[in-house]
Amino acid sequence: SPWQASVLTLFPEMFPGPLGQSLAGKALREGRWALEAIDIRGFATDRHRSVDDTPCGGGAGMVLRPDVVDAACAAALAAGPDRPLVVLTPRGRPLDQAMVRGFAAAPGVVLLCGRFEGIDQRVIEARAMTEVSIGDYVLSGGEPAALVLLDACVRLLPGVMGAAESGEEESFSSGLLEYPHYTRPTVWNDRAVPPVLLSGHHAEIARWRRAQAEAITRERRPELWARYAAANPIAASRAP
Ligand code: ADE
Repeated sequence: SPWQASVLTLFPEMFPGPLGQSLAGKALREGRWALEAIDIRGFATDRHRSVDDTPCGGGAGMVLRPDVVDAACAAALAAGPDRPLVVLTPRGRPLDQAMVRGFAAAPGVVLLCGRFEGIDQRVIEARAMTEVSIGDYVLSGGEPAALVLLDACVRLLPGVMGAAESGEEESFSSGLLEYPHYTRPTVWNDRAVPPVLLSGHHAEIARWRRAQAEAITRERRPELWARYAAANPIAASRAP
């Protein structure tokens, strides 16, 4: 049985969206993963089909009801009970490649997309949901964040990614940002490709690329550099 993603959302028509295209879309058609979008509104019980209510204690916006969310979770988990239940919210733990590897190694994921001001905290706790953020900015809903998380997972599934990009060389497996890339023409608008890349000296090219990756990581991402430098004291001692 393929890796199974279930998305609980008030906007099921947003899925598969961009994941129906390109690498993820091809893998979806090949049956390497499966996606179901579940409409939270389908679990409303009253005649107005209400899914939200005003916040206890007052304030702006609306809060998703715990009973409706719980029923939607139960329906999703019936299809695959051993999957992590993830809520996409800006107050969640920041998503990183280590978390993505964990989700991709599971039988699949159940993703709950928040809307309005939030989700009743009691159902988050009762279902032991993992709250995840894709970054320190606020989206109008969790759906684009769910698409981001799924894209990151799907490309790691067996048989999805081509041999070329198969993971070992890329950012975050080394702990460094990627070195810069170049292709033909070797001179474009008076800009030459770095001569070392045309030299055919493979060891020198590898050294140059690693130096570039280290420099860009040190400049742009001091927190990533600190972690890398601690694990690679020789590289750290080469740095200016
Ligand atoms: N929902 C709204 N903003 C979000 C974010 N930054 N990450 C995850 N889910 C969100």
